Amino acid sequence: MAETAKTAVLQEETRIFNTPQWIIEHSNSFQWMKKKGFKTEMEMRAWCSENYVDFWDEMAQSYADWYKPYDQILDDSKNPYFKWFLGGKINVAYNAVDRHAKSWRKNKVAYYFEGEPVGDKKAITYYELYRAVNKMANGLKSLGVEKGDRVSVYLPMIPELPITMLACAKIGAIHSVVFSGFSAGGLNSRVTDAESKVVVTSDGFYRRGKPLPLKPNVDTAVQDAPSVKNVVVVKRTGVATDMVEGRDIWYQDLVAAQSDECVTEELDPEDRLFILYTSGTTGKPKGIEHAHGGYSVAPAYTTAWALDVQEDDVFWCTADAGWITGHSYVIYGPLCLGATSILYEGSPDFPNLGRWWSIIEEYGVSVFYTAPTAIRMFMKAGDQWPAKYNLKCVRILASVGEPLNPEAYMWFRKNIGADQAPIIDTWWQTETGCHVIAPLPMTPEKPGSVAFPLPGFNTDIFDEEANSVPLGYGGNIVQKTPWPSMLRAFYKDEIRYKKEYWEMYWDVKPGTYLAGDKATRDKDGYWWIQGRIDDVLKVAGHRISNAEVESAAVSHPKVAEAAVIGKPDEVKGETIVAFVIVKEGVEETEDLKKEVAKHVRTVLGPVAYPESVYFVKDVPKTRSGKIMRRVVKAKALGKPVGDTSALANPESVEMIPLIG
Ligand code: WT7
Repeated sequence: MAETAKTAVLQEETRIFNTPQWIIEHSNSFQWMKKKGFKTEMEMRAWCSENYVDFWDEMAQSYADWYKPYDQILDDSKNPYFKWFLGGKINVAYNAVDRHAKSWRKNKVAYYFEGEPVGDKKAITYYELYRAVNKMANGLKSLGVEKGDRVSVYLPMIPELPITMLACAKIGAIHSVVFSGFSAGGLNSRVTDAESKVVVTSDGFYRRGKPLPLKPNVDTAVQDAPSVKNVVVVKRTGVATDMVEGRDIWYQDLVAAQSDECVTEELDPEDRLFILYTSGTTGKPKGIEHAHGGYSVAPAYTTAWALDVQEDDVFWCTADAGWITGHSYVIYGPLCLGATSILYEGSPDFPNLGRWWSIIEEYGVSVFYTAPTAIRMFMKAGDQWPAKYNLKCVRILASVGEPLNPEAYMWFRKNIGADQAPIIDTWWQTETGCHVIAPLPMTPEKPGSVAFPLPGFNTDIFDEEANSVPLGYGGNIVQKTPWPSMLRAFYKDEIRYKKEYWEMYWDVKPGTYLAGDKATRDKDGYWWIQGRIDDVLKVAGHRISNAEVESAAVSHPKVAEAAVIGKPDEVKGETIVAFVIVKEGVEETEDLKKEVAKHVRTVLGPVAYPESVYFVKDVPKTRSGKIMRRVVKAKALGKPVGDTSALANPESVEMIPLIG
């Protein structure tokens, strides 16, 4: 066995939680299993994965409507440029909205919107959503947006966010949502790379009781983004907003004049639905591309199977639609199922730490999907907050973004799930588009484990020589077969796509996708995620590249060089720490530390704010000049540094302070 395989499982979890029988029997996946005559969950999982092409075919027929049926399920002849559902015609907006608006679901609530100001609420039915999407689609067309054009969407969690995404999908334009927690710099790089014609934003949004401006970031970001012809501005807070004559238009004015009918484009399943930028190991964000066909199928299937969302559920995924979780589980998955979801604008602790639980109580949320960082924050705040509310409506809990530690699992289970709701810990990525490894409601759970790969996936753990490692060992998470909602490429960069995800095992097993995470399997075959193998941070579940933060720090005029690491944090998982080398003659002051941290926030946004900054004289580097972040991190955290013989400047290691 190769090196990676030596990471044996050290700690064993012995607790097992079985889901109450009524929840199991009520679940979508259990009913499918019975219908098909599988005797056990493992038998079903194995069959679906072995017969993955047929399985996905069945999912594509069950969960999506096609304008024209496809004649080939999968084309894997140009591996790793896989194509799904060839010859078909489809549009995810038809599946998410049109068909429901024309059915008995017409007056069913698609979203309960809850603004941050208490009392600011609105129920939006499928028919209302349909009309709003049509108006915005016509509005975009009136600005000259055509099929294939990119539209950047920089909006808070207000109804206009899903409406704009769906309006783009409807006319075949490609949306690129940029999380509103990125600042002008982060927005600029994403808008210029995508060459967006239009940016849709708002005057501002509410956060912790205050209206905050958003539009000024766009003004800065588009200054040198020549592709942008128009900026559409949703009036949300009413703060005074500068509008540029001829370029900027209020959303409300744009849609007011439009018809509420608009033809949905019949698209090729491989036509691109969106680009979503995510962080890799370099400073340049990767524009991950996803397609209409796959997105009409896989999010809906996993929303139904893993999260068990059903017709009469009220589903709440707390993620912001600026991240992939929002794309798949606030927008496309639940809408394709015709489900009812919550859309919440604000922070979890406004006006107090009971806000989320009050929303669950008020709307009777039955399926609740959130992130470990939030669970840990509430755990720290105490049991008294959820105890004030009636949470009996909760049937299913779920988690995503980073490992859910057993302590947080137990707290979530007891305080939110009444000791009965299963916790579906879902492992997946921006690249996968939908859940990949997760329990089903029927799966006996071990706290902290993501259980097993879902039906339809051939996920494995490889050592460095592409051998599947035995139970009890760990290595790299890989996908051995394609799946419909897989990334198709990086926008304008198919080569880097191939290099980053498919090169590692190409010579031995071509077509093996390298996920970039490590995992182990225990003796019962349960999967335990161990984290990234590359330099990518997870701060409160948000994926941030070390290199991107470093390059933001270095853009400060007094900074010569920077090395960024993640420091373990009880609530956020990791916080950002920057080691900074100042330019010749610059004085190392406490004020400068604050200035550098603030500068990074200005360049990238609050999501990338360095919690602490340290001055150093040098940072360890390889002979080719690459910063050895692993070494920096080990030294700073007081861990064994290991072999430093490959370093060009081994003496620099001693200069890294212990950061306590
Ligand atoms: C990375 C992907 C895809 C949802 C949100 C994040 C980590 C994701 C889990 C989990 C442990 C997890 C992985 C993965 N991750 N879910 N349940 N347990 N780690 O999407 O920003 O693309 O990040 O998040 O490291 O590679 P993303």
